Amino acid sequence: MAVTIKTSEQQEKMRVAGRLAADVLDMIGDYVKPGITTGELDRICHEYITTVQDAIPAPLNYRGFPKSICTSVNHVVCHGIPGDKKLKAGDAINIDITVIKDGFHGDTSRMYFAGKPSIQAKRLSEITFESMWLGIQELAPGKHLGDIGAAVQRNVEKNRFSVVREYCGHGIGEVFHEEPQVLHYGKRGTGLELREGMTLTVEPMVNAGKANVRLMPDGWTVITKDHSLSAQWEHTCLITNDGFEVLTLSADDRQ
Ligand code: MF3
Ligand code: CO
Ligand code: CO
Repeated sequence: MAVTIKTSEQQEKMRVAGRLAADVLDMIGDYVKPGITTGELDRICHEYITTVQDAIPAPLNYRGFPKSICTSVNHVVCHGIPGDKKLKAGDAINIDITVIKDGFHGDTSRMYFAGKPSIQAKRLSEITFESMWLGIQELAPGKHLGDIGAAVQRNVEKNRFSVVREYCGHGIGEVFHEEPQVLHYGKRGTGLELREGMTLTVEPMVNAGKANVRLMPDGWTVITKDHSLSAQWEHTCLITNDGFEVLTLSADDRQ
């Protein structure tokens, strides 16, 4: 399927879905503590999405994914499956939430720490966050996908970390993952030209060591090949007439 341009009615539905996804991340933060299991985090989010929000957790049964959220701890790059492992003091965890409301998807993830993080984990998370925002700030009609990738890659590599190549951001709307693919590396001025009404995610995965990843036998969990730490942040964004609107801001950052 081709890249879709959202009408103003569809854009409003994307705003609603994006807000709900961000609300889940706002809600779950206080639960991330040593001793809680990722399965418990999944159950709390599932209940909140289905009962409080009357929305659908998009990951559940998506291409066979067994849970409602993704929880990626330490050297897990993405798509970690919640289970009965307890978080330990110092663990870094990405929680990735995608909800469907009124047929439209909102997709966002953040990093959290159980207890006090290592200096390296904190720095990796901060640089990844900054790199995501540098990518987002490229979004505007007439800009190219390569501008996003170049901005992210430049900042990551300047800090001697590495950008994961095998997974990327994506168009999003009535379909969870639609065209285009949003690479987090690349060359300015290359790739698809952005247009008003496109909605896409920027979600760099950044490794402290080498960029290489490995898929675990469960078919989902992606880890760093060298077992180095990995971090990720994600927002869903709309291209507006003169730039962008981030649809998945935390309630604290919305006015
Ligand atoms: N939320 C992820 C993304 O940012 C996709 C998760 S797919 C799942 O695109 F099946 F693992 F949930
Ligand atoms: Co995404
Ligand atoms: Co996501």
